[in-house]
Amino acid sequence: MKALIIGSGGREHALASKVAENSNVEVVYCAPGNGGTYRENKCENINITQIDELLSFAIESKIDITIVGSEEWLVQGIVDKFNEKGLKILGPCEKAARLEGSKSYSKEFMKKYGIKTAAYEVFEDENKAIDYLKNCEYPIVIKADGLAAGKGVVICNDFFAAKSSINDFMVVDIFKGSGKKIVIEEFLEGVEASILSITDGKVILPFVSSKDHKQIFDGGIGPNTGGMGAIAPNPYCTKEVLDEFYKNILLPTLKGIQEEKMDYRGIMFFGIMITKKGVYSLEYNVRFGDPETQAVLPLMKSDFTELVISAIDRDLENFELLWKKGYSCCLIAASKGYPGKYNTGYEISESGKLEGKLYLAGAICDDGLLKTNGGRVLGITGFGETLAKARKIAYADMKKVQFDGMYYRKDIGK
Ligand code: AMP
Ligand code: GLY
Repeated sequence: MKALIIGSGGREHALASKVAENSNVEVVYCAPGNGGTYRENKCENINITQIDELLSFAIESKIDITIVGSEEWLVQGIVDKFNEKGLKILGPCEKAARLEGSKSYSKEFMKKYGIKTAAYEVFEDENKAIDYLKNCEYPIVIKADGLAAGKGVVICNDFFAAKSSINDFMVVDIFKGSGKKIVIEEFLEGVEASILSITDGKVILPFVSSKDHKQIFDGGIGPNTGGMGAIAPNPYCTKEVLDEFYKNILLPTLKGIQEEKMDYRGIMFFGIMITKKGVYSLEYNVRFGDPETQAVLPLMKSDFTELVISAIDRDLENFELLWKKGYSCCLIAASKGYPGKYNTGYEISESGKLEGKLYLAGAICDDGLLKTNGGRVLGITGFGETLAKARKIAYADMKKVQFDGMYYRKDIGK
């Protein structure tokens, strides 16, 4: 089998190495991949990123399965284009990708199918939005409708902060169109969980739960990032929480996908908030999470490639999805200055053998040397029978990797 993984993050490195575990897989092309996929067994980086080029490559190279990492391609309809040519690809059709591509659409969908979510209003006129803010309770959450590279959500503590954000989103247009329409949403207090799952449109199989750590500093302080570390399973996801999630969020979402006649054979990532008033749906992502994937996939016991094929072939109901016992803890090391401005091009050195697994992200292989090339540079996942053991391994491994300006949180999973 030949596989194609589209994307260049730590998530894609984790996907590529998991697909490569299947003995029928002969080669995993990574477009464009990174320094990690460059070094990975059976993997080969190819420098293409445009949908039409990816499609031609998949046809010419007789690719058997394609997995898309980032939402950008999904929202642009890559799945429909691959399907038209009879190629197997994991991901939602363009219409279903709007569940991530448009916050107002996903909120409407949740409302229509009775999925428990925060109360909200949608605005396209800044004056009406500001009028609405005058009678709101604070804090309040303001969300850009469209994709904003994970930066489109702000929590505002008072009217003035909210008004200023609305100005940035709708007038200054900091998201180049994505914030012209906004969602203003009730603030929910609680703990978050990420539940990745796979669907074939007939069933949704949830994966082991996980927990991201979004803020840059220890204790959840500072600006939001793409994610500074993840653990799995999420200790807050008790049986009661998962039962409630299944009944009030997962099942009605499946009903919605079916009634809206979406061709959804892909990953569905539920962002949920566990509150005193119950479990709420925060958002849908239509792809794997980063760094959740680096924590969750290594715990999968069943063959991942077979799982993906089973979803694409609409046969998940016959798939037995099994998990390893124990915990994982993934730490992310970032460039100094991230999520703001940072420099790249620093050499990454490794000393000694790691006990966990190293996933490279913003890192390239240049003349045989690994060099930093992004904000989130790499991740290390440790495993253990307990979360404490998994953490210990990940933190010990982190000491064996170095680059100038390397920064990581010290409290992941604490
Ligand atoms: P989203 O892209 O909708 O998941 O929002 C990004 C992050 O903003 C989430 O992971 C939460 O940390 C936070 N967030 C979003 N919506 C709310 C809400 N209604 N209440 C509290 N925090 C929220
Ligand atoms: N870690 C959150 C995300 O992938 O959206």
